[in-house]
Amino acid sequence: MLKVGFVGWRGMVGSVLMERMAQEGDFTGIEPVFFTTSQVGQQGPDIGQPIPALKDASDINELAEMDVVLTCQGGDYTKSVYGPLRDSGWKGYWIDAASSLRMDAQSVIVLDPVNRALIDRALDAGGKTFVGGNCTVSLMLMALGGLFEADAVEWLTSQTYQAASGAGAQNMRELLNQMGALNGAVCAELATPSSAILEIDRKVTEAMRSAEFPAANFGVPLAGSLIPWIDSELDNGQSREEWKGQVETNKILGRDANPVAVDGNCVRIGSMRCHSQAFTIKLKRDLPLADIEAMLAAHNAWVKVIPNHREETIAGLTPTVTTGTLSVPVGRLRKLSMGPQYLSAFTVGDQLLWGAAEPLRRMLSILRE
Ligand code: HSE
Repeated sequence: MLKVGFVGWRGMVGSVLMERMAQEGDFTGIEPVFFTTSQVGQQGPDIGQPIPALKDASDINELAEMDVVLTCQGGDYTKSVYGPLRDSGWKGYWIDAASSLRMDAQSVIVLDPVNRALIDRALDAGGKTFVGGNCTVSLMLMALGGLFEADAVEWLTSQTYQAASGAGAQNMRELLNQMGALNGAVCAELATPSSAILEIDRKVTEAMRSAEFPAANFGVPLAGSLIPWIDSELDNGQSREEWKGQVETNKILGRDANPVAVDGNCVRIGSMRCHSQAFTIKLKRDLPLADIEAMLAAHNAWVKVIPNHREETIAGLTPTVTTGTLSVPVGRLRKLSMGPQYLSAFTVGDQLLWGAAEPLRRMLSILRE
């Protein structure tokens, strides 16, 4: 029975992972061991079966007892523990939500509905390090996997609409506090139907620009606004989030030697936990739209093609309808006026499920096969 050490199971991604594992009955048939950075010796979570007391997540000897370590603790933890653990001679499987090891040559970025063959080849070759991908990249590939599988994409540009959850739990709270502050600034006027909208707007703007507006986490207002920069600044003008688009896509697809160009703008918007993305795709050949829809729909069990009509789109292609589900709707599929090889598409996906926890949960299942 695999001895699996869980680290960072209490955080947001870790909690989603725990929920999904409980739903799927994944704790049966493994020996789960829970680690902590602050509560050594205390009782672990209730998973319906006996587990040992919490162990110290920085104790290399304890970690080295595990067949698998699955961490959602974050990049700093990975940086401090992974090297010493491997240096100790540990040959176990490391499954990680953080980005620190993603681009290492010995790591595989896991998204098995898209790259199961690559994962299997890595396992056969003795691969031991499996890392979840960036959320926008994973969600893009879940949506557009059919086109990549058919090698139909010459290049792709994405404009993202990324949720607060991608920045962390505190940011989700702050977004709601910002929404409340905006409402609070004008609730008297809103209760009076005759009040002037331009006066309401003036007060809202004043509230957003005031020093008291709650923005400690985002740094600037998000509610009522947007933030066209995610993650750190690289010296080529890209944000790190934008840089990940191309390098991670090609690594997941195993085509580093023959990369597809992927680039665009990554933008934070005020949704809670669903990332949305608009794509302009240059196809290698002029494929009929019906064939494209069929290819996309057939690629995996979670992608859902939404017919490009107003009613279906506003009912089925939104964060509101997608949040908390594994469904990855893709729609707004049409040829652009630039020519028959230019395709438009729009997708939505839960950033904490397929964007974070689910590929890790499934990687653990693959190890149990
Ligand atoms: N970097 C992503 C974001 C989340 O900020 O939305 C993690 O993949």
